[in-house]
Amino acid sequence: MSEFVRIVEVGPRDGLQNESTMVDTADKIALVDRLSATGLRSIEATSFVSPKWVPQLADAAEVMAGIRRRDGVSYPVLVPNEQGYDRARAAGADEVAVFTAASEAFNLRNTNASIDQSIERFAPVLARARVDGVRVRGYVSTVLGCPYQGEVPLADVVRVARRLHDLGCYEISLGDTIGVGTPLKARRMLLAVADEVPMAALAVHFHDTYGQALANVATCIEAGVRVADAAVAGTGGCPYARGASGNLASEDLVYMLQGMGIDTGIDLDALAETGRWLAAKLGRPTGSKVGRALAAA
Ligand code: HMG
Ligand code: MG
Repeated sequence: MSEFVRIVEVGPRDGLQNESTMVDTADKIALVDRLSATGLRSIEATSFVSPKWVPQLADAAEVMAGIRRRDGVSYPVLVPNEQGYDRARAAGADEVAVFTAASEAFNLRNTNASIDQSIERFAPVLARARVDGVRVRGYVSTVLGCPYQGEVPLADVVRVARRLHDLGCYEISLGDTIGVGTPLKARRMLLAVADEVPMAALAVHFHDTYGQALANVATCIEAGVRVADAAVAGTGGCPYARGASGNLASEDLVYMLQGMGIDTGIDLDALAETGRWLAAKLGRPTGSKVGRALAAA
């Protein structure tokens, strides 16, 4: 295993989609540009879902038009269907992310579709993306628990991850949407999926509702995963997942990885400064302990 972990920064999307404060378009653009200056190589910039469902990101096209794209950085955007793909392409996106869940009850609330129906919607997106040379990432939500169904069988997580991989997603991000997971369960889930999908095509995505996200990600890195999602300042949550709170803070993840001797290519001070800047825009302190400690040091 290489000693490099790629962080997929999801703050501009997963972070801002759940904030009650509406962030100005210019600040969203500044956020993405600040993040790309820290050395991050993957920044999920926004979301082309229905603006009726997620009004916070209704300005997705303006954000894509305003950001300064750096060489070597990819800017994936969330798309739920072909209509989202059309909008994303018109806005110049060259990487997209599709999303479904391991729990039927959650997927219905989040996308008004069964798991099968959501995957049927992705099939034409993936077919067109292949022709267009667009990379597609896939998310599986509720991999360690569902706010509506409760326990989620491992076999369901494995089956859905495998289907997204078979459809052509280059990477599958396994999402603990409501942050109920604990380390041993997280590792068991990851290893079960890795029996069917190569570890090199997997990523982990933890929310920190119960303070377990950093421990979960550490355990999964020890188990072999080399891609982790996180959100600067610990923003985030899913508006259609009751009880979902912030993502693992990117600053906390970078600090921990540095301590493990693992390279991320990211300037921690610049990232923490960006987290504090974003938190100020949101009118509250940063959700990153590392961001607060560095400010006090
Ligand atoms: P629906 O209402 O069933 O859609 O929503 P529809 O196909 O029946 O269309 C209804 C209306 O929406 C129509 O407009 C469409 O044009 C429009 P009208 O005729 O009423 O004026 N519409 C769209 N408009 C713009 N862009 C589009 C689009 N699609 C339809 N792409 C839909 C179905 C999937 C669209 C909706 O449920 C939706 O947008 N859901 C997204 C919810 C969401 O974004 N949740 C958060 C992201 S997932 C997450 O956070 C988890 C993750 O972080 C991982 C983890 O933590 O586990 C990824
Ligand atoms: Mg999420």
